[in-house]
Amino acid sequence: MGTWKIGSYVSAAERQAQVDALRRGIELGVNFIDTAEMYANGKSEELVADAVKDVRSDVFIASKVSPENLHHDDVLKACRASLARLGTSFIDLYQVHWPNPKIPVRETMAAMEHLVEEGAVRFIGVSNFSVAQTQEARDALSKNEIVSNQVEYSFNNRLVEADILPYCTKEEISLIAYSPLARGKIVDSVPKAILQKYKMSPAQVMLNWVTRDQHVLAIPKAANISHMEDNAASVSARLTSAEYGQLSRA
Ligand SMILES: NC(=O)c1ccc[n+]([C@@H]2O[C@H](COP(=O)([O-])OP(=O)(O)OC[C@H]3O[C@@H](n4cnc5c(N)ncnc54)[C@H](OP(=O)(O)O)[C@@H]3O)[C@@H](O)[C@H]2O)c1
Repeated sequence: MGTWKIGSYVSAAERQAQVDALRRGIELGVNFIDTAEMYANGKSEELVADAVKDVRSDVFIASKVSPENLHHDDVLKACRASLARLGTSFIDLYQVHWPNPKIPVRETMAAMEHLVEEGAVRFIGVSNFSVAQTQEARDALSKNEIVSNQVEYSFNNRLVEADILPYCTKEEISLIAYSPLARGKIVDSVPKAILQKYKMSPAQVMLNWVTRDQHVLAIPKAANISHMEDNAASVSARLTSAEYGQLSRA
């Protein structure tokens, strides 16, 4: 479940509806929540805290450190602030949100390893990293692995298929597909026969297609229960490889 913009400029009732949507997702077994210190200036992490407070051990929380906070001590400080907002003692996956060419990745990764060592973080990931930048981050780690790269991937944006996806597949790194519903621009190019055969909505087919490779997981954002239920059911069936091919061509 993605949470960009969630918790930002909303009434108490709208905020509660967003919490309820995440709760419904958790109930349905969607246990991965993606957030970031940058989202809604920390309000997204606070909202996630409300959604998981009595079910923390059932969910996997991924958060991100912003590119301006990648010096060693800034990473530690940012992580502590995220932990406080999330109301948890550990973040499952801590990701570098964007690379910052002005700050050596070695310095950032030393801080990430420190956080793993003290138990504040379980796994280290990156986001918006090219293949070369991912490799550089991996080389900078001494005891841990880069487990994921979060990049844009959807029906409407398939740039990662050129190099990042094949690299992740070969190196066994998870590709976390952000904006998998093209930020709400649901396509109308899904063949009717596929929609009818699987009784899926076009949004469900988009999510099903994007996660057809076992190394890819998708983090659609849904601010209401009906979208959440639709998204959770998107993996109720696997399409045939011929159908995935047909969708890719479409
Ligand atoms: N690492 C990065 O740099 C980065 C960048 C962008 C995003 N992200 C992450 O990726 C997450 C998802 O990306 P996103 O928020 O950009 O866009 P998205 O998930 O591709 O699309 C969200 C939009 O789709 C709508 N929607 C959700 N489920 C739907 C359904 N079943 N049928 C029809 N419409 C549906 C949502 O409406 P409602 O809100 O009304 O439900 C919202 O308008 C973010 O929330 C964030 O966690 C990361």
